[in-house]
Amino acid sequence: MAEDVLLVEHLPVAPESGDDGVIALVTINRPDKLNALNQDVMSAIKAYAKNVETQDEVRCVVFTGATPGPAPEGRRPKPNAFVAGADIAEFAGQGSKEIYPIFADNGWEAIWGISKPTIAMIDGFALGGGCEVAVACDLRVASDRSNFGTPEINLGLMPGGGGTQRLARLVGLGRAMELVFTGEMIDATEAHRIGLVNHVVPAGDLMERTLALARTIGSKSAATMKVAKATMRASMETSLSDGLIVELDAFSALFDSADTAIGVDAFLSRQAPEWTHK
Ligand code: COA
Repeated sequence: MAEDVLLVEHLPVAPESGDDGVIALVTINRPDKLNALNQDVMSAIKAYAKNVETQDEVRCVVFTGATPGPAPEGRRPKPNAFVAGADIAEFAGQGSKEIYPIFADNGWEAIWGISKPTIAMIDGFALGGGCEVAVACDLRVASDRSNFGTPEINLGLMPGGGGTQRLARLVGLGRAMELVFTGEMIDATEAHRIGLVNHVVPAGDLMERTLALARTIGSKSAATMKVAKATMRASMETSLSDGLIVELDAFSALFDSADTAIGVDAFLSRQAPEWTHK
């Protein structure tokens, strides 16, 4: 069932305060298949991305992969994974007629389209479509035992979830081409070095460090955050001069918002701002 493959938990942004904001922790839940993205997962992600837009209390969305349970007697344990890619079993026997509509309306674009800030919390393999889920998020925090790669070339394929585009924009064309052409994995340290992840932390600290980042982001004005995200995204689609006009328009418009007045007044009166988030 689509509901079971995506688990959503809400965690308070500031447990001690009266703030009703929450961090949404969204877990892709197919640990036996290393959280591979089958059609159920894709449908659930698309539905979730639509839903979260209506949930004003959600300030930041953290995507992660489920941890494998203990191995059955005599079997080797499954490795930790964020997401080990699109579900390869669903590729067998497919032609372009079947694949095109599936990939034209997909979970990666749904994540990319979320107007709130998103973070990928990565512990283990982030391969192929999994690396693309991470790259479709705004920020990435990885455990030091994570591995990244785009191994589609080994299937006679190439990335199809934005990897040829978003990954190159994030780490640069040369580095993305090396990943795509070789299909080889890189570890978390290398992923950090090339700018694929924002932070690498010990596995035991991953949740705490990611939630701390999410809470910092979630404590700001949700309304301003949306504008900041959309404006920064515009830099990926426009020339510098057009982008600066987008920035000028958005920046000026913020001065008509309640939260900008609140933030400026709070600074000047040396008080903590109490955002309306509107
Ligand atoms: N699609 C479907 N099933 C997948 C999968 C994927 N992308 N990645 C892993 N799985 C499944 C395996 O088939 C296996 O299922 P089973 O236990 O029912 O046989 C299970 O997840 C565990 O994977 P396994 O390969 O046994 O683990 P491993 O530790 O030997 O290897 C990987 C781990 C990540 C190196 C290996 O699973 C792998 O290469 N996965 C595919 C990565 C990929 O090519 N992604 C891009 C897809 S477009």
